[in-house]
Amino acid sequence: VADLPIDRDRRVADVETVFNAEKGVINRLFATAAPRFQTVDDGTGLPPLKVPALQPFLVKNIFTDFKRHDLGPGFHERNYDGTIQKQLLTTPLWGVGSTPPYGHDGRSMTLEDVILRHGGEAQAARDAFAAAPARERSDLISFLNSLVLFPPDDTASNLDPGDRSMVNFPQYGHGSIKLSVLFNDPADIE
Ligand code: HEM
Repeated sequence: VADLPIDRDRRVADVETVFNAEKGVINRLFATAAPRFQTVDDGTGLPPLKVPALQPFLVKNIFTDFKRHDLGPGFHERNYDGTIQKQLLTTPLWGVGSTPPYGHDGRSMTLEDVILRHGGEAQAARDAFAAAPARERSDLISFLNSLVLFPPDDTASNLDPGDRSMVNFPQYGHGSIKLSVLFNDPADIE
């Protein structure tokens, strides 16, 4: 599943890393936050509650079904009681280009190795990959390698772009964590 639809988003905010040549710091990346809460007055006289708005949300480029599958003996694990653990959760391929080694056990050093280790329920997909022309296989590997994670300046919650005109930027004047956009309401007496 490339893009996973969420019916009711339970988060209070969506933090996104965007390419922004003007505000971006390292890699010209910059984090933005969009509030996804609604304020509810519970009648206590205290500041209103900020509860998740529970709206639909589309998680783009997650590439998983979040289901358990049996990929055959190449992935099986022996449990302490001697039984065999056959089913494993499909790992999101989000960021897979930056996260070797592969498999829950880290036994595959390359993307090609972990794809060829697929068996069981994924035998047909594995065989289709193995039988594909070299050009198509390398296109697929290039695509997976394009699913990379980027290092932001501080954290993904860095909402302050900093001051690029500072001397020695980004050692000085770089961004900082600033979540007031989400949580500061001047009307609150917090
Ligand atoms: C062309 C098709 C496929 C590709 C390119 C692919 C690719 C991958 C990659 C790169 C990983 C390793 C992720 C990591 O370690 O971070 C992985 C793991 C996994 N894949 Fe696939 N996959 C394919 C088809 C399938 C199918 C058809 C199924 C299930 C029916 C499946 C189930 C899983 C599961 C359960 C894991 C986790 C294994 C573990 O944690 O050890 N995959 N896949």
